[in-house]
Amino acid sequence: MANVKTAAIVLAAGMGTRMKSAQPKVMHPVGGRPMVSHLLATTEAVGVDEHIIVIGPDMAALTEAVAPHATALQTERLGTAHAVQAAEPLYTGDAEDVFVLCGDTPLITQETLKKMQDARRSGADVVVLGFTPDDPGAYGRLIVSEDGDLEKIVEFKDATEDERAVNLCNSGVMCINGKHLFDLVDRVKNDNAKGEYYLTDIVALARQSEMRCTVVPGSEEELLGVNSRVELAQAESIFQKRMRQSYLEKGVTMTAPETVFFSHDTHIDPDVVIEPNVVFGLGVTIETGVHILGFSHLEGAHVKSGVSVGPFARLRPGAVIESGAKIGNFVEVKKAVVEEGAKVNHLSYIGDAVVGAKANIGAGTITCNYDGFMKYKTTIGKGAFIGSNTALVAPVTVEDGALVGAGSVITTDVSGDSLALTRADQKEYKGWAANFRRTKQAEKAAKK
Ligand code: UD1
Ligand code: CA
Repeated sequence: MANVKTAAIVLAAGMGTRMKSAQPKVMHPVGGRPMVSHLLATTEAVGVDEHIIVIGPDMAALTEAVAPHATALQTERLGTAHAVQAAEPLYTGDAEDVFVLCGDTPLITQETLKKMQDARRSGADVVVLGFTPDDPGAYGRLIVSEDGDLEKIVEFKDATEDERAVNLCNSGVMCINGKHLFDLVDRVKNDNAKGEYYLTDIVALARQSEMRCTVVPGSEEELLGVNSRVELAQAESIFQKRMRQSYLEKGVTMTAPETVFFSHDTHIDPDVVIEPNVVFGLGVTIETGVHILGFSHLEGAHVKSGVSVGPFARLRPGAVIESGAKIGNFVEVKKAVVEEGAKVNHLSYIGDAVVGAKANIGAGTITCNYDGFMKYKTTIGKGAFIGSNTALVAPVTVEDGALVGAGSVITTDVSGDSLALTRADQKEYKGWAANFRRTKQAEKAAKK
């Protein structure tokens, strides 16, 4: 089957008014990326060679999101067949199979698309992905003959009582013989309840021309169509469930997987332990042997082998935590490398910085990286020790092996192996506190 070309036409011209949003429906994210991008990742993975995304007016952001795939503009929404026609001028015309998919169905799996492709290549000219929802509602109904072939699809509004009683429904996904697709679509008329050009009519038209049509079954979960924020939340929940399942199977321990949230591009190696209530934003890589304690939030971070993070840690974009380092509670790291074996254990902000190998950063240390206009860098040398509650006013360097006394405000560079401290000298007044208490007690007693 080498050199057989497959195309996909993705329908996404609807604004999705029920989303009550300024952005096109398919741009809403699931797992941190637009729904339409999920779909395209799936079609790409099954080897689709040519994509055409049918969009509506004023959808520049969508055009950008799907690039380099081509977009075709459907100016007026006259129905799903009309939308497919909008793709025709861009279609190169040499695909053996053409998928038609809806941009708002992000959870469809590769396995299901492959099954459709197989059915298509076993001789069916039109393959429709069907499903049997708990509530068939207003879905189009698939009318199948006694020998199991698909005879026609009837839209709910046009269906008879008997047809409505059929619970095998149209998911909206089809795989069609590329030689016949546009001939069939051009024959579709709009004499129906909605006055629309229904793509679903191509089944009956194909049957009239003695073509074979068949149904491939899919699961309701993967065919969830997102039309509202409620359904968007359902899609997110299904996506998260799949991610958790897949990481558990890959050897990641999660004590409460239902409280751990992933992005589509989260990468976690085997033998990582993730405690409850951890969130992975975009662009996180976690290497083997890492332990992420509860309530940590990570985004754009690379955590190398054997690191411990949290509880209550925040790793922001550009955080690189090298092997064996430790990031403790209430520590925020942004655009900073924490080298091998370094420790930032409590209550710190480390931003635009390098923390050298085996350095120890005391509780409450802050890199003051911003003067209200620009960001500056802090460099902490290998084996340096920064005392608690130190402010490092960047740009500043503390060289290898230096020691900074607690409570210091470091504004100039500290040379290697020296001690720097800026706190005022300590004074002591013997007996002062006892005298003070005695005087005040006497004052209070006199007032009674
Ligand atoms: C469609 C199917 C129905 C199926 C259901 C599954 C038809 C006629 N009906 O109905 O059998 O059960 O999907 O969800 O196909 N679109 C365009 N341009 C248009 C019209 C639609 O791009 O002119 C896009 C929409 O943005 C959407 C998709 O096509 O992504 C489906 O259109 P929609 O109007 O939602 O069809 P349904 O009535 O749900
Ligand atoms: Ca729909």
